[in-house]
Amino acid sequence: TLGSKGGRGALVVLEGLDRSGKSSQCARLLSFLKGKGYDAEGWRFPDRATSVGQMISAYLANESQLDDRTIHLLFSANRWEKRALMESKLVSGTTLIVDRYSYSGVAFSAAKGLDIEWCKAPENGLIAPDLVIYLDVQPEKAAERGGYGGERYEKIEFQKKVAEHYHSLRDLTWKVVDGSLPMETVEEKLRDLATSCIQECQGKPLTNLAW
Ligand code: TYD
Ligand code: MG
Repeated sequence: TLGSKGGRGALVVLEGLDRSGKSSQCARLLSFLKGKGYDAEGWRFPDRATSVGQMISAYLANESQLDDRTIHLLFSANRWEKRALMESKLVSGTTLIVDRYSYSGVAFSAAKGLDIEWCKAPENGLIAPDLVIYLDVQPEKAAERGGYGGERYEKIEFQKKVAEHYHSLRDLTWKVVDGSLPMETVEEKLRDLATSCIQECQGKPLTNLAW
């Protein structure tokens, strides 16, 4: 398959506010890549299937109450429990398209008022993405899109704070895509970004997040 001729897969992360279009775009990107013959898988965080993920899911649905630092560390643990599998997939040539990652972890917790450096610390040592695509949508616009599902963080004032923290996390791996453009336009941009990333990361070693 393409992208796995002895080379490694790329770690491509999509980030953005709730209702920014990440999930639909991840699905579209994944089927495009597979259709082109790339070895690719779709992942998402939180991974609600694990026992840690079930605690997170109950918290998000307001079915349980947890201290802000406790839930922060559970989100992080939910990535750590998948780290070994993530590494083996990437090493064996599978590209991972991941819906949310450590940037969500930091931006959402910092928006509650937790110290940003404290929030970053448990993410250190997770695999660093090769590319982070930030789907940029104004919080007001995101809220208009079919409404929020009623989960804990789906409130416009909170999402505005999340957006500010996301902006402070931008680094060299970030590409900001205007998520208010037509779906097909966004899709096209993501295809280009992901396919060049897959090519460019061949021969580059995997690295760890070092915040
Ligand atoms: P989301 O991607 O919206 O899941 P779903 O599509 O199943 O609704 O993620 C759920 C919420 O969790 C979202 O509001 C962002 C938040 N979140 C964190 O606070 N920390 C994290 O580390 C992650 C991955 C997500
Ligand atoms: Mg959501």
